[in-house]
Amino acid sequence: MKDTTLAIIGVGYVGINLAVRFPQFFKTFAFDIDKEKINALNRGVDISNQFPADVLSSSGCIFTSNVDALQEANYYLITVPTPLDSNNAPDQSLVDQAVIGLKDYLCSGDTVVIESTVMPGTTNYFKNILGRDDIFFAFSPERISPNDGYIQFEDIVKVVSCESQEKLNDLVLIYSKIFRLVESSQDLEACEFAKLLENTSRDINIAMMNEFYQGALEKGINFQESLRLARSKWNFPEVDKGLVGGHCISVDPYYLSAYLGLSEDSIILKSRKVNDSMVISLEERILAMSKIGDRVLLLGKTYKKNCNDTRDSRALELYEKLKLRIDRVIDSFDPYIDKSIQILDYKNFDLIVTLVAHDEFMLEKGMWSKLLNPNGAIFDFAQVIPKELEGQFKIYY
Ligand SMILES: NC(=O)c1ccc[n+]([C@@H]2O[C@H](COP(=O)([O-])OP(=O)(O)OC[C@H]3O[C@@H](n4cnc5c(N)ncnc54)[C@H](O)[C@@H]3O)[C@@H](O)[C@H]2O)c1
Repeated sequence: MKDTTLAIIGVGYVGINLAVRFPQFFKTFAFDIDKEKINALNRGVDISNQFPADVLSSSGCIFTSNVDALQEANYYLITVPTPLDSNNAPDQSLVDQAVIGLKDYLCSGDTVVIESTVMPGTTNYFKNILGRDDIFFAFSPERISPNDGYIQFEDIVKVVSCESQEKLNDLVLIYSKIFRLVESSQDLEACEFAKLLENTSRDINIAMMNEFYQGALEKGINFQESLRLARSKWNFPEVDKGLVGGHCISVDPYYLSAYLGLSEDSIILKSRKVNDSMVISLEERILAMSKIGDRVLLLGKTYKKNCNDTRDSRALELYEKLKLRIDRVIDSFDPYIDKSIQILDYKNFDLIVTLVAHDEFMLEKGMWSKLLNPNGAIFDFAQVIPKELEGQFKIYY
C-alpha cells in the first residue's frame, strides 16, 4: 500500500481529525472550499478548537483549497456537512457538490469514501451518477464526538463498507492505522442505515428519559435518584435526560424518517418533538424558579460539553428566548465562546442554571458561593454539582 495517498474533502470537526492523524502513515491532502479555514490551518489555527498549532504543523498534512492538488490522491474521504433544510428535510447538496466536483480528477482504480451521514442508497447513487465502473465507492460513517471526553478517537470502532472485497480489505488496512478496531461489511445500504439507526436510537432513548424526567417532576419524585437506582439493573440503557442539539443526533432522525417515509405518529418523529420541547419546558421552569427582577445566569451555550460548537445548540436557543424577557436580568457564560471573560468575573446571581456540563463548571464551593446571592439557588440541569455540595446550596434538579 505504499502508493496510498489520501484526500480529505471538507476539513471541519470531522475532517480535521483525519487530517492530523493519517499523514503519519500516508501522504494526505486536506481540502476545503473555505479558503479562510485553510489559511487559518496553515497558520496553525484550528477554529474547531480541537488541535493546537504544534499538532497541526507537525502533522505533515497538506492543507489546501486548490482542488487541482488532489489529483495525486487515490482515496478521497468525503467529510462535508449534511444538514436539514428549513422544512427539516435532508439536504445532501454539499455531498453532491463534493463528489461530483471530483469527477474530472478521479482516475481508474481510485476510491471515494463517503464519511458524511447520508440517506441509505446515496453511495450507490454516486456510483451510478458518475457512471464509472473503474471507480470504487465506499461508505464509512463518522462516529467522533469531538472533545467531550466520552471516548478516545482511536477507541472508536470504525465501520467501513464497500461492495468490492479487495477494496474493502485495503480500506480496513488504511483505517486500522488510526483506529484500533475496524468493522467491515460489503453491504453499503446496511452500513448507511446503521449510522442513522445508532443516532436515532440515542435520540429516542433521550426522549424517553426526558419524558420520565418531566413525569417525575410533576409527581415530586427525585428523577436522578430514581435513575441511579434503575441503572443498577444490568440491562438498563446508559442514557440520561438532556438537551439534544448539534448536527448529528437531532438531525439524523429526520434523515431516517425521510428515507422510511414515516408520519408524525412515528416514535422517531415524536421523540424529536419531545426533545425539542425541552427548551420550552426549561424556560417555564426557570421562570417559575425566579421572580421579577432576579438576575439569572445560564452556564453553557454550546450543543454539548467541552466543545465550542454552537450549531443547533438548544442551550443557546434557550438563552435567546429568555434574553427577550424584560422582567428578569438574563446572562449567559460559556468559556468556549466568551473567551475574553472568566467565570470569576460573575457574582451575586439569584439563580444559576447549568445547561452544559463543561469541565470548567465543576467548581468548588467557594466559587458557587461567590456566584450566588446568599439566598440564591442553582438549577443543576446539566448535573455539574458534586454530591458533597448537596445540602450546602438550594439546588433544583
Ligand atoms: N461534528 C461531529 O461531531 C460529527 C460526528 C459524526 C458525524 N458527523 C457528520 O460528519 C459530516 C461532517 O460534519 P462536520 O461537523 O465535520 O461538518 P463541518 O461543518 O464542521 O465541516 C465541514 C467542512 O466541509 C467544507 N465543505 C463543504 N462543502 C465542501 C466541498 N464541496 N468541498 C470541500 N469542502 C467542503 C466546509 O467548508 C466545512 O469546513 C456530517 O455529515 C455530519 O453529520 C459529524
